[in-house]
Amino acid sequence: MVDVLLGLQWGDEGKGKIVDYFAKDYGVIARFQGGPNAGHTLYVNDTKVVLHQIPSGVFHDNVINLIGNGVVLDPVTLKRECDTVASFGIDLKKNLFISERTHLILPTHRALDKAAELSKGSQKIGSTLKGISPAYMDKTGRNGLRVGDLLDKNFTTAYIKLRLKHQKLLDNFAFTEDISSWEEEFFEALEFLKELNIVNGEYFINKQIAAGKRVLAEGAQGSMLDIDFGTFPFVTSSNTISAGVCSGLGIAPQKIRDVIGVTKAYCTRVGSGPFPTELEDATGELLRSTGNEFGATTGRPRRCGWIDLVALNFACMINGVTKIVMTKADVLDAFPDLQVCTSYKIGDEETKEIPFRLDRRQPVPVYQSFAGWNTNTSGIRNFEGLPGTMKTYVDFINKYLGVPVHYISNGPGRDQIIQAPIA
Ligand code: GDP
Ligand code: IMO
Ligand code: MG
Repeated sequence: MVDVLLGLQWGDEGKGKIVDYFAKDYGVIARFQGGPNAGHTLYVNDTKVVLHQIPSGVFHDNVINLIGNGVVLDPVTLKRECDTVASFGIDLKKNLFISERTHLILPTHRALDKAAELSKGSQKIGSTLKGISPAYMDKTGRNGLRVGDLLDKNFTTAYIKLRLKHQKLLDNFAFTEDISSWEEEFFEALEFLKELNIVNGEYFINKQIAAGKRVLAEGAQGSMLDIDFGTFPFVTSSNTISAGVCSGLGIAPQKIRDVIGVTKAYCTRVGSGPFPTELEDATGELLRSTGNEFGATTGRPRRCGWIDLVALNFACMINGVTKIVMTKADVLDAFPDLQVCTSYKIGDEETKEIPFRLDRRQPVPVYQSFAGWNTNTSGIRNFEGLPGTMKTYVDFINKYLGVPVHYISNGPGRDQIIQAPIA
């Protein structure tokens, strides 16, 4: 039995914290897509940790963490992260496993990402520059190198061949940066990677399921960054939605039970691309400062705005969301009134649907106003204690989406989460 937990917006919904919270109920936590573009924050004994490659269940005893075949893996980031995790006394030999089909991010993928973004000028995607798009291009182009290839005696030859190909592309971009130090640390990290548990991921996970272990598939990025259904071309290069779980881990669709969607009580986006409810004013600034909205991977300020139910409804539809977790409700504590986007006005028409090429349509959000709660909610530990105005806000979202909000998160800490009664 497999449950899925993924982001319903443009990433950074708080997936890391929520996976860490749920991890004790699962035997396996598995990443199925994305790479070190992800930054999942959680707290271990009050110490903040940001995970990029390792699943967010790694700090729990008796939980297996699997990096699935759908992920793209940067060995350098992984090694650094393993060192951090090991410093908490975690034995990675016991609880971290990597699929041999996982594609590797090479130093030249990072260089290509940078060169491609530079060449796009004002049209840049706002990539995290971690080499994601070039690595997935080599996967679909059938050129990529995989973790299992590391154990092959011809690995270095294959690496050199691919590197030469990349060099030609870099020459075309007139990219001249010296990346020799990147290559040095890459080869060092490969030696480290070879010593980790490299497994046949699809058999590995299916055997865990057959043995009765519960699996939680941990999404990275968010549904609106999905390569097919996101705000293309301002998206990432993988299927971030629930459909990606089957191909990203090698499990059958009928094994999937719940799809847990995580959304902030408002909305953020980092990088370029359309964001209909964005607030480029003092309210947006207040959301950013109160919510500490700065990228966990790149440190960039996140763009902030009101919750967008048109986009959330779309995300619930394509993912088959069965439960919602609403995070960062506490960030709205100090706002006297709140806006909820219920439709878009595009030209003379009002719509509740996401159009093709949102970036070309200039949608104007139509809002419904709600009273704020004007009280500090971060210390509240049960649903009954929450202000009535917050319950009204959540109830409206429940009804609009037709999916229940099961949990409300009211702070970054492990214990700052409240279970809501299901109607
Ligand atoms: P992820 O990529 O979805 O895992 O999210 P990030 O870790 O990139 O960003 C979420 C940020 O919000 C992190 O700094 C979390 O510590 C923080 N966070 C998570 N849940 C809450 C919450 O309920 N309230 C507040 N104030 N912060 C939260
Ligand atoms: P988590 O898992 C927020 C965004 C980038 C850029 C676009 C493409 O922490 O939620 P890429 O590096 O993938 O080529 O960048 O996607 N992006 C994210 N935004 N959270 C993330 O991950 C993201 N991963 C990528 O900012 O706009
Ligand atoms: Mg993040």
